[in-house]
Amino acid sequence: MIKGINHIGIAVKDLDASIKIFQKLFEFENVHIETVEDQKVKIASFKVGEVMIELTQSTSEDSPIAKFIKKKGEGIHHIAFESDDVNSELARVKKLGIDLVDEKAKPGSHDMLIAFLHPKSTNGVLTEFCQINDTYNK
Ligand code: CO
Repeated sequence: MIKGINHIGIAVKDLDASIKIFQKLFEFENVHIETVEDQKVKIASFKVGEVMIELTQSTSEDSPIAKFIKKKGEGIHHIAFESDDVNSELARVKKLGIDLVDEKAKPGSHDMLIAFLHPKSTNGVLTEFCQINDTYNK
């Protein structure tokens, strides 16, 4: 079951510079920084109300974020919807004809399980399903 929007991913070239910009906008006190090896990204995340914003910088030229920025420039990269079971969500939408980027949930930020749907199936909106692990504590 989809519970709502968990986070919005924003592709940035310079994480430190972006943190400063968004700090001015939202005056958040806590920013969580982590590297997700599987996605080849470094992420700075902070909450605005109930929704997390994830500023995402590539750690490698061949990462999906690096390719995205090369093609489209910086900006909104994806919207992540929280589910209590990502793999069953993937099976559900696949049956409805949605193309998947990830056939199975993979490790994401904040110890979440994540999977992406193909944007060509979703009006160009890169959509992520994410699931909070038991170890998730933020
Ligand atoms: Co995400």
